[in-house]
Amino acid sequence: MTILVTGGAGFIGSHISVELLNAGYNLMIVDNFSNSNPEVLRRIQKITGKSFEIHQIDLLNEKDLERVFIENRIEAVIHLAGLKAVGESVVEPLKYYRTNINSTINLCKLMKKYHVRKLVFSSSATVYGMPDKVPIAEDFPLKAMNPYGRTKLMIEEILQDIYISDKQWSISILRYFNPIGAHESGLIGDNPNGIPNNLMPFITKVAIGELKELKVFGQHYPTIDGTGVRDYIHVIDLAKGHVAALDKVLKTNSINTYNLGTGQGYSVLEIITAFESITGIKIPFQLSEPRLGDIAICYADSSKAKMELGWEAEKGIIEMCRDAWRWQRKNPNGYQDNKLISNSRIRDSGLMNMESTEEVEKNVVDEKTYT
Ligand code: UD1
Repeated sequence: MTILVTGGAGFIGSHISVELLNAGYNLMIVDNFSNSNPEVLRRIQKITGKSFEIHQIDLLNEKDLERVFIENRIEAVIHLAGLKAVGESVVEPLKYYRTNINSTINLCKLMKKYHVRKLVFSSSATVYGMPDKVPIAEDFPLKAMNPYGRTKLMIEEILQDIYISDKQWSISILRYFNPIGAHESGLIGDNPNGIPNNLMPFITKVAIGELKELKVFGQHYPTIDGTGVRDYIHVIDLAKGHVAALDKVLKTNSINTYNLGTGQGYSVLEIITAFESITGIKIPFQLSEPRLGDIAICYADSSKAKMELGWEAEKGIIEMCRDAWRWQRKNPNGYQDNKLISNSRIRDSGLMNMESTEEVEKNVVDEKTYT
């Protein structure tokens, strides 16, 4: 059974890919590598010992995407591809609306045309805006506060309309809380471009000495110690949540929305302390002004996912910090060392399978040997 994962080379997508292969699914990744590195593909193969197909395609290019549907028997789609930087979305809203919305429309159009009606969609807790209370349940009011969040909300609404128009669809909308951590092998993990926006990658960059100190955004929130509280979830737990949601959409015809979180909130200072005690590394920080648009407290009521998907997060803060740090320590430059070479190889070949990935790797080694 072939599962198409859009954005399968990204941070969350790569971990989902591993879990899908481990669960015995055939995997096909579609990714344009705009915010990911092809080296991750080799790592996924190394972790799982399994092969899979990769197509370097931009979902905005409907013709290229259609080829994938024509040439393969796809059973279901897990749709993650999209732009995700909140700050950038405020500066360039049209880029976000065009990329996230149009690519989803292209994808769903082709799914309809080729009778693939099973979809798991990557949404975000950002759709709750500033919730009136916590824990946040799926039926809370929705009010995204920036263009990125609004694209997630609009796509959720589009999917509801698709389902209303044709009840043969089966759709699972997953609202992620704060995914951190990495695969325990240390082979794949979060690899943000430039200076990270999110807390954990920032902390690991400080720990490795690449950044001098962390700025803690806000110190007067009505929380345990005045700093912002979030529901951090290990990316492997999140990935397993996708497999559980996939199992459900394969069996039923319905549309459902699920929070994927742990139900446990940690403040920024609690995260720093946990990271320090697990790694033995001091994280210098400075208390500073709140970040525009940040909320005080956010954590999930994930009981619906537990009841209906039989899924719940298993890993705690120790594993999250330990695995994030192992990934950073083993890959101080992320996948970057391989980036330039492998990207150009992929551009040239257009379409890739795992053999050509190995070819990429061989070329990387060759070039390294001769320079
Ligand atoms: C952010 C996005 C959210 C997205 C999520 C994905 C914003 C405003 N929100 O959520 O839309 O779905 O990432 O993971 O960007 N913090 C610091 N110093 C830092 C970075 C963060 O103190 O350098 C604090 C924040 O104020 C917050 C907590 O750490 O209290 C977590 O921040 P972050 O990792 O950026 O996630 P969110 O803001 O919750």
